[in-house]
Amino acid sequence: MPLTAPDVGIDLGTSNISVYVSGRGIVISEPTVVVVERESRRTVRAVGDEARFLYGRSPEKLLTVSPIRGGQVADFDMTQLMLKYFLRKAIGISYLGRPRVIVSIPCGLDDVNRKALTEAVRIAGAKHVFLIEKPFAGAIGSGLPVYDPVGNMVVDIGAGTTDVAVISLGGLVVSQSVPVGGERMDEALMNYLKRECNIIVGRNTAENVKKDLATAIPLEEPRSILVRGINQLNTSAGTIQFNSQQAYEALKEPCEAILKSIRWVLERTPPELCADIMRSGIHLTGGGSMLFALDQYISEKLDIPVLLARDPADCCILGIGYLTENIQLVTPQDRRGAEA
Ligand SMILES: Nc1ncnc2c1ncn2[C@@H]1O[C@H](COP(=O)(O)OP(=O)(O)OP(=O)(O)O)[C@@H](O)[C@H]1O
Ligand SMILES: [Mg+2]
Repeated sequence: MPLTAPDVGIDLGTSNISVYVSGRGIVISEPTVVVVERESRRTVRAVGDEARFLYGRSPEKLLTVSPIRGGQVADFDMTQLMLKYFLRKAIGISYLGRPRVIVSIPCGLDDVNRKALTEAVRIAGAKHVFLIEKPFAGAIGSGLPVYDPVGNMVVDIGAGTTDVAVISLGGLVVSQSVPVGGERMDEALMNYLKRECNIIVGRNTAENVKKDLATAIPLEEPRSILVRGINQLNTSAGTIQFNSQQAYEALKEPCEAILKSIRWVLERTPPELCADIMRSGIHLTGGGSMLFALDQYISEKLDIPVLLARDPADCCILGIGYLTENIQLVTPQDRRGAEA
Protein backbone atom coordinates (compact mmCIF):
# COMPACT_ATOMS: atom_id res chain seq x y z
CA MET A 1 0.00 0.00 0.00
CA PRO A 2 1.51 3.43 -0.99
CA LEU A 3 2.36 5.59 1.98
CA THR A 4 1.45 9.12 0.92
CA ALA A 5 -1.62 10.20 -0.99
CA PRO A 6 -1.15 12.65 -3.91
CA ASP A 7 -1.90 16.33 -3.29
CA VAL A 8 -5.41 17.33 -4.35
CA GLY A 9 -6.93 20.64 -5.53
CA ILE A 10 -10.65 21.41 -5.34
CA ASP A 11 -12.53 24.29 -6.97
CA LEU A 12 -15.59 24.31 -4.74
CA GLY A 13 -18.02 26.38 -6.76
CA THR A 14 -21.65 27.22 -6.05
CA SER A 15 -22.80 25.31 -9.13
CA ASN A 16 -19.78 23.20 -10.18
CA ILE A 17 -17.05 21.31 -8.34
CA SER A 18 -13.79 20.32 -10.02
CA VAL A 19 -11.06 18.13 -8.56
CA TYR A 20 -7.39 18.07 -9.64
CA VAL A 21 -5.01 15.31 -8.56
CA SER A 22 -1.27 16.05 -8.73
CA GLY A 23 0.43 14.08 -11.45
CA ARG A 24 -2.91 13.29 -13.13
CA GLY A 25 -4.74 16.56 -13.87
CA ILE A 26 -8.47 17.37 -13.64
CA VAL A 27 -10.26 14.14 -12.77
CA ILE A 28 -13.71 15.39 -11.73
CA SER A 29 -15.98 18.17 -12.97
CA GLU A 30 -19.56 17.78 -11.73
CA PRO A 31 -22.45 19.86 -10.37
CA THR A 32 -22.29 20.78 -6.65
CA VAL A 33 -25.50 18.92 -5.78
CA VAL A 34 -26.40 16.15 -3.33
CA VAL A 35 -29.63 14.12 -3.16
CA VAL A 36 -30.46 12.73 0.29
CA GLU A 37 -33.43 11.01 1.89
CA ARG A 38 -35.78 13.56 3.41
CA GLU A 39 -36.26 11.50 6.60
CA SER A 40 -32.67 10.61 7.51
CA ARG A 41 -30.53 13.33 5.95
CA ARG A 42 -27.33 11.31 6.29
CA THR A 43 -28.50 8.72 3.76
CA VAL A 44 -27.00 10.05 0.52
CA ARG A 45 -28.72 8.78 -2.62
CA ALA A 46 -26.73 10.59 -5.31
CA VAL A 47 -23.96 13.19 -5.69
CA GLY A 48 -22.80 15.35 -8.61
CA ASP A 49 -23.85 14.26 -12.11
CA GLU A 50 -26.23 11.58 -10.80
CA ALA A 51 -27.85 14.06 -8.42
CA ARG A 52 -28.32 16.62 -11.21
CA PHE A 53 -30.08 13.94 -13.26
CA LEU A 54 -32.51 13.32 -10.39
CA TYR A 55 -33.25 17.05 -10.04
CA GLY A 56 -36.96 17.59 -10.60
CA ARG A 57 -37.44 13.87 -11.25
CA SER A 58 -37.00 12.59 -7.71
CA PRO A 59 -39.88 11.24 -5.63
CA GLU A 60 -41.11 13.23 -2.65
CA LYS A 61 -39.05 11.35 -0.09
CA LEU A 62 -35.82 12.58 -1.68
CA LEU A 63 -34.36 16.04 -1.13
CA THR A 64 -31.99 17.89 -3.48
CA VAL A 65 -29.43 20.03 -1.64
CA SER A 66 -26.93 22.61 -2.96
CA PRO A 67 -24.49 22.64 -0.02
CA ILE A 68 -22.45 25.64 -1.24
CA ARG A 69 -24.22 28.97 -1.64
CA GLY A 70 -22.55 32.23 -2.56
CA GLY A 71 -19.22 30.40 -2.40
CA GLN A 72 -19.69 29.55 1.28
CA VAL A 73 -20.60 26.41 3.16
CA ALA A 74 -24.38 26.68 3.54
CA ASP A 75 -24.90 23.11 4.78
CA PHE A 76 -21.95 21.77 6.75
CA ASP A 77 -22.98 18.07 6.87
CA MET A 78 -23.81 17.92 3.18
CA THR A 79 -20.57 19.70 2.20
CA GLN A 80 -18.55 17.24 4.21
CA LEU A 81 -20.42 14.20 2.81
CA MET A 82 -20.05 15.51 -0.73
CA LEU A 83 -16.32 16.23 -0.34
CA LYS A 84 -15.75 12.78 1.11
CA TYR A 85 -17.47 11.23 -1.91
CA PHE A 86 -15.42 13.28 -4.39
CA LEU A 87 -12.11 12.72 -2.58
CA ARG A 88 -12.69 8.98 -2.66
CA LYS A 89 -13.74 9.10 -6.29
CA ALA A 90 -10.61 11.12 -7.16
CA ILE A 91 -7.89 9.19 -5.31
CA GLY A 92 -9.53 6.06 -3.88
CA ILE A 93 -8.79 4.81 -0.36
CA SER A 94 -5.62 2.77 -0.87
CA TYR A 95 -3.21 5.16 0.91
CA LEU A 96 -1.94 5.06 4.46
CA GLY A 97 -1.43 8.85 4.66
CA ARG A 98 -4.14 11.42 3.97
CA PRO A 99 -3.80 14.02 1.18
CA ARG A 100 -2.97 17.72 1.43
CA VAL A 101 -5.89 19.58 -0.14
CA ILE A 102 -6.03 23.08 -1.70
CA VAL A 103 -9.56 24.55 -1.89
CA SER A 104 -10.87 27.72 -3.59
CA ILE A 105 -12.66 30.38 -1.53
CA PRO A 106 -14.28 33.76 -2.28
CA CYS A 107 -12.20 36.87 -1.42
CA GLY A 108 -12.51 38.19 2.11
CA LEU A 109 -14.06 35.03 3.55
CA ASP A 110 -14.28 35.58 7.32
CA ASP A 111 -12.58 33.40 9.91
CA VAL A 112 -15.77 31.58 10.93
CA ASN A 113 -16.45 30.48 7.37
CA ARG A 114 -12.77 29.65 6.76
CA LYS A 115 -12.84 27.42 9.83
CA ALA A 116 -16.10 25.74 8.80
CA LEU A 117 -14.76 24.94 5.34
CA THR A 118 -11.39 23.75 6.64
CA GLU A 119 -13.14 21.49 9.13
CA ALA A 120 -15.46 20.05 6.47
CA VAL A 121 -12.51 19.25 4.18
CA ARG A 122 -10.57 17.73 7.05
CA ILE A 123 -13.47 15.50 8.16
CA ALA A 124 -13.87 14.50 4.50
CA GLY A 125 -10.34 13.05 4.60
CA ALA A 126 -7.67 15.76 4.23
CA LYS A 127 -4.52 15.95 6.34
CA HIS A 128 -3.80 19.64 5.71
CA VAL A 129 -6.13 22.18 4.10
CA PHE A 130 -4.97 25.29 2.23
CA LEU A 131 -7.43 27.99 1.14
CA ILE A 132 -6.81 30.00 -2.05
CA GLU A 133 -8.91 32.94 -3.27
CA LYS A 134 -10.67 32.23 -6.57
CA PRO A 135 -9.31 35.19 -8.58
CA PHE A 136 -5.75 34.30 -7.52
CA ALA A 137 -6.26 30.75 -8.77
CA GLY A 138 -8.03 32.10 -11.88
CA ALA A 139 -5.09 34.42 -12.60
CA ILE A 140 -2.62 31.53 -12.51
CA GLY A 141 -5.01 29.44 -14.61
CA SER A 142 -5.16 32.14 -17.28
CA GLY A 143 -1.37 32.37 -17.38
CA LEU A 144 -0.89 35.78 -15.74
CA PRO A 145 2.47 36.67 -14.13
CA VAL A 146 1.06 36.74 -10.58
CA TYR A 147 4.49 36.52 -8.89
CA ASP A 148 5.97 39.48 -10.82
CA PRO A 149 5.94 43.07 -9.49
CA VAL A 150 3.17 44.13 -11.89
CA GLY A 151 -0.54 44.70 -11.37
CA ASN A 152 -2.90 42.02 -12.74
CA MET A 153 -6.66 42.41 -12.46
CA VAL A 154 -8.91 39.35 -12.49
CA VAL A 155 -12.70 39.26 -12.32
CA ASP A 156 -14.02 35.77 -11.60
CA ILE A 157 -17.75 35.66 -12.36
CA GLY A 158 -19.13 32.38 -11.05
CA ALA A 159 -22.65 31.20 -10.35
CA GLY A 160 -22.89 32.58 -6.82
CA THR A 161 -20.28 35.32 -6.55
CA THR A 162 -18.19 37.76 -8.53
CA ASP A 163 -14.69 38.08 -7.10
CA VAL A 164 -12.63 41.04 -8.23
CA ALA A 165 -8.94 41.25 -7.32
CA VAL A 166 -5.77 43.12 -8.13
CA ILE A 167 -2.82 40.77 -7.77
CA SER A 168 0.88 41.56 -7.57
CA LEU A 169 3.96 39.82 -6.15
CA GLY A 170 2.03 36.63 -5.38
CA GLY A 171 -0.69 38.25 -3.26
CA LEU A 172 -4.01 40.12 -3.42
CA VAL A 173 -3.51 43.90 -3.17
CA VAL A 174 -7.19 44.94 -3.27
CA SER A 175 -10.16 42.59 -3.61
CA GLN A 176 -13.91 42.34 -3.21
CA SER A 177 -16.46 39.55 -3.42
CA VAL A 178 -20.10 40.38 -4.19
CA PRO A 179 -23.07 37.98 -4.27
CA VAL A 180 -23.75 38.52 -7.98
CA GLY A 181 -23.16 35.90 -10.67
CA GLY A 182 -24.85 33.50 -13.06
CA GLU A 183 -27.61 32.64 -10.59
CA ARG A 184 -28.52 36.31 -10.06
CA MET A 185 -28.71 36.66 -13.86
CA ASP A 186 -31.08 33.66 -14.03
CA GLU A 187 -33.24 35.17 -11.28
CA ALA A 188 -33.28 38.55 -13.06
CA LEU A 189 -34.58 36.81 -16.22
CA MET A 190 -37.21 34.87 -14.25
CA ASN A 191 -38.43 38.08 -12.59
CA TYR A 192 -38.53 39.99 -15.87
CA LEU A 193 -40.47 37.23 -17.63
CA LYS A 194 -42.97 37.14 -14.78
CA ARG A 195 -43.34 40.90 -14.46
CA GLU A 196 -43.31 41.99 -18.10
CA CYS A 197 -44.51 38.90 -19.97
CA ASN A 198 -46.74 37.20 -17.35
CA ILE A 199 -44.92 33.94 -17.83
CA ILE A 200 -43.45 31.83 -15.04
CA VAL A 201 -40.37 29.76 -15.92
CA GLY A 202 -38.06 27.52 -13.91
CA ARG A 203 -34.36 28.07 -13.23
CA ASN A 204 -33.18 25.75 -15.99
CA THR A 205 -35.27 27.57 -18.62
CA ALA A 206 -33.96 30.93 -17.42
CA GLU A 207 -30.38 29.63 -17.59
CA ASN A 208 -30.93 28.40 -21.16
CA VAL A 209 -32.41 31.76 -22.19
CA LYS A 210 -29.33 33.45 -20.69
CA LYS A 211 -26.93 31.22 -22.62
CA ASP A 212 -28.86 31.30 -25.92
CA LEU A 213 -30.12 34.86 -26.12
CA ALA A 214 -29.04 37.19 -23.32
CA THR A 215 -26.57 40.00 -23.97
CA ALA A 216 -24.84 42.68 -21.89
CA ILE A 217 -25.16 45.31 -24.64
CA PRO A 218 -28.04 45.90 -27.10
CA LEU A 219 -27.61 44.02 -30.39
CA GLU A 220 -27.74 45.82 -33.74
CA GLU A 221 -29.91 43.04 -35.11
CA PRO A 222 -32.09 41.78 -32.27
CA ARG A 223 -32.77 38.04 -32.12
CA SER A 224 -35.68 36.25 -30.49
CA ILE A 225 -36.53 32.78 -29.24
CA LEU A 226 -39.63 30.97 -28.03
CA VAL A 227 -39.86 30.64 -24.25
CA ARG A 228 -42.19 28.09 -22.73
CA GLY A 229 -43.61 28.50 -19.24
CA ILE A 230 -46.81 28.83 -17.25
CA ASN A 231 -49.10 31.76 -18.01
CA GLN A 232 -49.53 33.68 -14.78
CA LEU A 233 -53.00 34.97 -15.68
CA ASN A 234 -54.79 31.71 -16.41
CA THR A 235 -52.24 29.18 -15.03
CA SER A 236 -52.13 27.32 -18.34
CA ALA A 237 -49.04 26.39 -20.33
CA GLY A 238 -47.93 29.27 -22.50
CA THR A 239 -45.29 30.18 -25.07
CA ILE A 240 -44.01 33.67 -25.85
CA GLN A 241 -41.52 35.31 -28.20
CA PHE A 242 -38.71 36.76 -26.11
CA ASN A 243 -36.14 39.01 -27.77
CA SER A 244 -32.55 39.98 -27.02
CA GLN A 245 -33.53 43.58 -26.21
CA GLN A 246 -35.81 42.32 -23.42
CA ALA A 247 -33.06 39.98 -22.17
CA TYR A 248 -30.67 42.94 -22.17
CA GLU A 249 -33.12 45.00 -20.10
CA ALA A 250 -33.54 42.11 -17.66
CA LEU A 251 -29.78 41.70 -17.12
CA LYS A 252 -28.94 45.39 -16.73
CA GLU A 253 -29.01 45.24 -12.94
CA PRO A 254 -26.61 42.28 -12.41
CA CYS A 255 -24.24 43.64 -15.08
CA GLU A 256 -24.19 47.04 -13.36
CA ALA A 257 -23.50 45.36 -10.01
CA ILE A 258 -20.46 43.60 -11.50
CA LEU A 259 -19.23 46.88 -12.99
CA LYS A 260 -19.70 48.65 -9.65
CA SER A 261 -17.51 46.10 -7.89
CA ILE A 262 -14.74 46.47 -10.52
CA ARG A 263 -14.88 50.26 -10.07
CA TRP A 264 -14.70 49.89 -6.28
CA VAL A 265 -11.52 47.81 -6.56
CA LEU A 266 -9.93 50.09 -9.18
CA GLU A 267 -10.56 53.17 -7.01
CA ARG A 268 -8.58 51.56 -4.19
CA THR A 269 -5.72 50.28 -6.35
CA PRO A 270 -2.34 52.09 -6.07
CA PRO A 271 -1.73 54.27 -9.18
CA GLU A 272 1.32 52.29 -10.31
CA LEU A 273 -0.64 49.06 -10.43
CA CYS A 274 -3.60 50.86 -12.07
CA ALA A 275 -1.26 51.90 -14.88
CA ASP A 276 -0.25 48.24 -15.40
CA ILE A 277 -3.93 47.25 -15.58
CA MET A 278 -4.71 50.00 -18.11
CA ARG A 279 -1.97 48.52 -20.27
CA SER A 280 -2.52 44.79 -19.86
CA GLY A 281 -6.29 44.86 -19.36
CA ILE A 282 -8.85 43.25 -17.07
CA HIS A 283 -9.01 39.44 -17.28
CA LEU A 284 -12.37 37.70 -17.00
CA THR A 285 -12.69 34.12 -15.69
CA GLY A 286 -15.58 31.95 -14.42
CA GLY A 287 -18.59 30.58 -16.30
CA GLY A 288 -20.64 33.77 -15.83
CA SER A 289 -18.10 35.77 -17.83
CA MET A 290 -19.33 33.94 -20.94
CA LEU A 291 -22.49 36.09 -20.98
CA PHE A 292 -22.56 37.50 -24.50
CA ALA A 293 -20.66 40.81 -24.85
CA LEU A 294 -20.00 41.19 -21.12
CA ASP A 295 -16.32 41.83 -21.92
CA GLN A 296 -17.29 44.55 -24.40
CA TYR A 297 -19.73 46.11 -21.91
CA ILE A 298 -17.06 46.38 -19.17
CA SER A 299 -14.46 47.62 -21.62
CA GLU A 300 -16.72 50.37 -23.01
CA LYS A 301 -17.84 51.55 -19.56
CA LEU A 302 -14.31 51.74 -18.11
CA ASP A 303 -12.31 52.43 -21.23
CA ILE A 304 -9.86 49.65 -20.34
CA PRO A 305 -9.14 46.56 -22.48
CA VAL A 306 -11.00 43.46 -21.22
CA LEU A 307 -9.89 39.94 -22.10
CA LEU A 308 -12.01 36.83 -21.72
CA ALA A 309 -9.94 33.77 -20.71
CA ARG A 310 -9.76 30.85 -23.13
CA ASP A 311 -11.61 28.35 -20.92
CA PRO A 312 -13.19 30.71 -18.40
CA ALA A 313 -14.93 28.02 -16.33
CA ASP A 314 -11.69 26.00 -15.95
CA CYS A 315 -9.24 28.79 -15.05
CA CYS A 316 -9.74 28.42 -11.32
CA ILE A 317 -9.15 24.65 -11.18
CA LEU A 318 -6.19 24.94 -13.57
CA GLY A 319 -4.62 27.53 -11.25
CA ILE A 320 -5.30 25.39 -8.20
CA GLY A 321 -3.83 22.47 -10.12
CA TYR A 322 -0.63 24.42 -10.74
CA LEU A 323 -0.36 25.15 -7.01
CA THR A 324 -1.05 21.48 -6.26
CA GLU A 325 1.94 20.54 -8.43
CA ASN A 326 4.05 23.30 -6.81
CA ILE A 327 2.83 23.24 -3.24
CA GLN A 328 5.92 25.13 -2.00
CA LEU A 329 4.30 28.24 -3.59
CA VAL A 330 1.41 28.10 -1.14
CA THR A 331 2.14 30.94 1.31
CA PRO A 332 1.97 30.86 5.11
CA GLN A 333 -1.24 32.86 4.98
CA ASP A 334 -2.96 30.24 2.85
CA ARG A 335 -1.84 27.74 5.44
CA ARG A 336 -3.97 29.57 8.01
CA GLY A 337 -6.46 26.73 7.89
CA ALA A 338 -3.80 24.02 7.98
CA GLU A 339 -3.03 24.13 11.68
CA ALA A 340 -6.49 25.32 12.78
N1 LIG B 1 -22.49 30.83 -22.25
C1 LIG B 1 -22.81 31.27 -21.04
N2 LIG B 1 -23.39 32.49 -20.89
C2 LIG B 1 -23.72 32.98 -19.70
N3 LIG B 1 -23.52 32.30 -18.54
C3 LIG B 1 -22.98 31.06 -18.61
C4 LIG B 1 -22.59 30.49 -19.85
N4 LIG B 1 -22.07 29.25 -19.61
C5 LIG B 1 -22.13 29.07 -18.28
N5 LIG B 1 -22.67 30.14 -17.67
C6 LIG B 1 -22.96 30.32 -16.23
O1 LIG B 1 -21.78 30.17 -15.47
C7 LIG B 1 -22.15 29.79 -14.14
C8 LIG B 1 -21.23 28.67 -13.67
O2 LIG B 1 -19.93 29.17 -13.67
P1 LIG B 1 -18.81 28.56 -12.70
O3 LIG B 1 -18.72 27.09 -12.90
O4 LIG B 1 -17.58 29.38 -12.89
O5 LIG B 1 -19.48 28.87 -11.27
P2 LIG B 1 -19.07 28.26 -9.86
O6 LIG B 1 -17.58 28.16 -9.79
O7 LIG B 1 -19.84 27.02 -9.60
O8 LIG B 1 -19.63 29.40 -8.87
P3 LIG B 1 -18.89 30.33 -7.81
O9 LIG B 1 -17.45 30.46 -8.22
O10 LIG B 1 -19.64 31.62 -7.85
O11 LIG B 1 -19.07 29.67 -6.47
C9 LIG B 1 -23.60 29.33 -14.19
O12 LIG B 1 -24.43 30.30 -13.57
C10 LIG B 1 -23.88 29.24 -15.70
O13 LIG B 1 -25.23 29.53 -16.01
MG1 LIG C 1 -16.05 29.46 -9.31
